[in-house]
Amino acid sequence: MPHLPIKQITQLGLPFASQRLTRPGTMTAQSASAAASAPASRGLADLTLDHVRAAAARIDGAVVKTPMMHSITLSQITGAEIWLKFENLQFTAAYKERGALNALLQLTDEQRARGVIAASAGNHSQGLSYHGTRLGVPVTIVMPRTTPTVKVMQTESVGGNVVLEGETFDDANAHARKLEQEMGLTFVHPFDDPHVAAGQGTVALEMLEQKSDLDCLVTPIGGGGLISGMSTVARALNPDIEIVGVQASLFPSMYARIKGEDRICGGDTLAEGIAVKQPGEFTSKVIAERVDDILLVDEPALEKAVALLLQIEKTVVEGAGAAGLAAVLQHPERFAGKSIGMVLCGGNIDTRLLANVLLRDLARQGRLARLRVTLQDRPGALFKVMRLFDAHNVNIIEIYHQRIFTTLPAKGLITDIECEARDADQLNALVAALREADYKVTVAELA
Ligand SMILES: Cc1ncc(COP(=O)(O)O)c(C=O)c1O
Repeated sequence: MPHLPIKQITQLGLPFASQRLTRPGTMTAQSASAAASAPASRGLADLTLDHVRAAAARIDGAVVKTPMMHSITLSQITGAEIWLKFENLQFTAAYKERGALNALLQLTDEQRARGVIAASAGNHSQGLSYHGTRLGVPVTIVMPRTTPTVKVMQTESVGGNVVLEGETFDDANAHARKLEQEMGLTFVHPFDDPHVAAGQGTVALEMLEQKSDLDCLVTPIGGGGLISGMSTVARALNPDIEIVGVQASLFPSMYARIKGEDRICGGDTLAEGIAVKQPGEFTSKVIAERVDDILLVDEPALEKAVALLLQIEKTVVEGAGAAGLAAVLQHPERFAGKSIGMVLCGGNIDTRLLANVLLRDLARQGRLARLRVTLQDRPGALFKVMRLFDAHNVNIIEIYHQRIFTTLPAKGLITDIECEARDADQLNALVAALREADYKVTVAELA
């Protein structure tokens, strides 16, 4: 994983402190903190191209200027010209460092000494902890007690002090706001803060510096900080560019807010990084003004996108980070022929979950299957079935015989055969041959 050498990090500490912005119209650290508790009072003037440019200057050298690359194969698959911005190559594997660092660098000396606090179990907690610790700012992160240990450990490993409180994110958030008051800490919101959104906007600045004639930016939306910053840049630099947000169908919170619909949020999405129930107040205003459309993506498209990015680009992306590609895969007609910039926003995915996603993708392609075959419990019955597998060159991975827990008569048995084929055609030919030979066969379906 790329990260700055220690020497470079210490050298960067001082100039940052002296680069604090106090231009007219720019929020001071105190007003930023006050604004965090009164988000509705902030308007579009608090987030302009100048704010993002200032953020870029502030964070320069301390976050990775990630590459943006044209994907020939994904372009062929989708029928659009796909440009990928590899934000999963940041040190904490997500773009979130940009906004967190921009906010940290605008604290007063007193605020720096007291420390910052956030409620997050995701990439914001790692970005804030990493840069806060690097700058000598104490960082407290409140997470619900239900947070997986791996997330707690990841945040602690980059210097965050994790406090576990409550059952839900709302409980943790309420506790963070209480500690903010009691301990005089500065609350750094993961998205609903112009300083944070301006930092995130630097992603678009880099993308459009490299390729100014992109037709469209397709950007995941959780609470809306990333797309707020990116759309601010894109609108200012290229009025013709189309800006499309993406949310998981299970968590259409910003979609519902902007379209004025009632939608339920909930469920186990692969894209937990954008599973936000309550959209930002400030970010809603920016999105209403600067974003053209929001699309929803289903879980199979998210899984497919994660698998394709690994198989084709050899890059690990979490569900939220793959949402842009998922949108193009799910709505190909909408993007046909356009050049599209998309951010691979994060790569923090549990490796066992990633393994499942990849195996499920093989199953969807018909390269991996589980066949349930009903047999008679007598010598040679399984052998005859195996001969058909051999004839069709389908490899058997696992066989499970069930004699007791079946609805069949005592002399019957069910055998589940997990197998791998070259492609769906080869598998279908085997199933047809088994049925022709009078076996009752069912193929396990995926959601
Ligand atoms: C990987 C990833 N992508 C996208 C987002 C969405 O960002 P925002 O809340 O700024 O809309 C997040 C938020 O944490 C994230 O972690």
